Amino acid sequence: MRDIESRGDGPHSPPPLLFLVFGASGDLTHRKLLPALYELHRKGDLHPKTKIIGIARKEKTTQMFRKEAVDGIRAFSRHLPEDEKDEPDDLRDFLERIHYFPLSFEKSEDFDHLAEYLTDPGLLEATNGNILFYLATPPSFFIPIVEQIGRIRPRLDSFPKAGFRRLVVEKPFGHDLVSAKALNVAVLKVFRESEVHRIDHYLGKETVQNILILRLANPVFGALWSREIISCVEIRVFETIGIEGRGAYFEESGILRDMVQNHLFQLLTLTAMEPPVSFDADSIRDEKVKVLRALVPWRSQKPSESVLFGQYSEGGVLGDPVMGYRQEKGVDPLSVVETYAAMKLEIQNMRWAGVPFHLVAGKRMSRKATEIVLHYRKPPVALFRLAGCHDDTENVLTLSIQPNEGISLRFGIKRPGSPLRIDQADLAFAYSQIYPEDPPEAYSRLIYDVMKGDATLFARNDEVEKAWMFMEPFLSLKRDPMFYPAGSDGPFEVDDFFSVDLS
Ligand code: BG6
Repeated sequence: MRDIESRGDGPHSPPPLLFLVFGASGDLTHRKLLPALYELHRKGDLHPKTKIIGIARKEKTTQMFRKEAVDGIRAFSRHLPEDEKDEPDDLRDFLERIHYFPLSFEKSEDFDHLAEYLTDPGLLEATNGNILFYLATPPSFFIPIVEQIGRIRPRLDSFPKAGFRRLVVEKPFGHDLVSAKALNVAVLKVFRESEVHRIDHYLGKETVQNILILRLANPVFGALWSREIISCVEIRVFETIGIEGRGAYFEESGILRDMVQNHLFQLLTLTAMEPPVSFDADSIRDEKVKVLRALVPWRSQKPSESVLFGQYSEGGVLGDPVMGYRQEKGVDPLSVVETYAAMKLEIQNMRWAGVPFHLVAGKRMSRKATEIVLHYRKPPVALFRLAGCHDDTENVLTLSIQPNEGISLRFGIKRPGSPLRIDQADLAFAYSQIYPEDPPEAYSRLIYDVMKGDATLFARNDEVEKAWMFMEPFLSLKRDPMFYPAGSDGPFEVDDFFSVDLS
């Protein structure tokens, strides 16, 4: 992991490259990629010669694509409010970098034309021959596109100034273990693993990266990170939003595939991994893979006993009435797909054996919160209780990933005066107190790292496969979700589901 502080075209800034976005008409390009690239451009973190080439099926001109780009940036970039009518100079300069190339993903001849276009000496020479392929299409196109890139790659590589080739793949990396392996095989026929960057945007969040800093740069916390002292670890990702119009997609994925197998497992592996031997991409990813290899259902129970599924019904979120999942467009009115999942897991290794890891992901919850919560053991003797004093003290370390980024530690204190009373207090740190500026967008950070060739914050092929391998028996379980009203704290059954483990 490197620092994002560098600027301009200095020795530490990313090299020039052709940034090819497959799926340029899609939501992801307009919501995330172009705003992130614009942010990088504004900060001077795009090389002056870098060009962005949007590629999609629709026939349109570069001018039309640039107009769409402005609309997307206005709608989704915090650097350009929607109501600001003027086009700032930096936006005009940014648009100059953008071009459009129409191409049908199934047509070999279109890729031949792309190869001709890319080997235009002027274009490639200016970027030292460097090309970054970004797959932002629906996943069904990933393999066909990679195969076509494989076909034209020798032509691109024979260009006298052959620079680097990098591939960025968006989640989902497969739908299950078999499809994930098929995708990896197809990708690795054309690219070396070191050229591949599988994006999980959770790794681009500053507070997610801070998990390792907290643990590894601070002995005071690092020493408090094992079964000796921790009784339970909770990882929760609660969202107030629902499925955002993606009914058809969600019916196929459910929250296990959409959130747990990727985002929650990233939080889990960073929380539980051993310190790496060095701070480079493979050393870190080696340790994350070891966590996945040691992962089992809690106390080796059957998968069906270590997961609880829920689905939101009609309700109200933050004061607004909202429909139930089954009423959403594209959803079967009798759907049993889960919009909530709670899992009890164990990491059977020397550090964690016997500590329950509770993972919960839910849509349409009462609040938005991504948190990692470490519960510490109680003292071996309840000294104060034995002396007749009420004592609820539990040391709890909470890492708030979003939206109120920060860290807090709960502990007991003596209430002044007599008789003896113990209250609870928090040592709390909020990012916003020290850094009033919003942190960089996750996508800006990740794109920056790809341009620099740093793969630390990206999933490796074996990591993705191990996560699917663990998830496989859960995916095939019969669904019979517990219903919870939208805007609540999830199915009430979850209290019983988890309660035995915290005692
Ligand atoms: C995406 C999921 O990967 O992550 C969405 O497909 C989810 O369903 C989103 O809402 C959550 O991301 P964030 O950054 O808002 O927590």
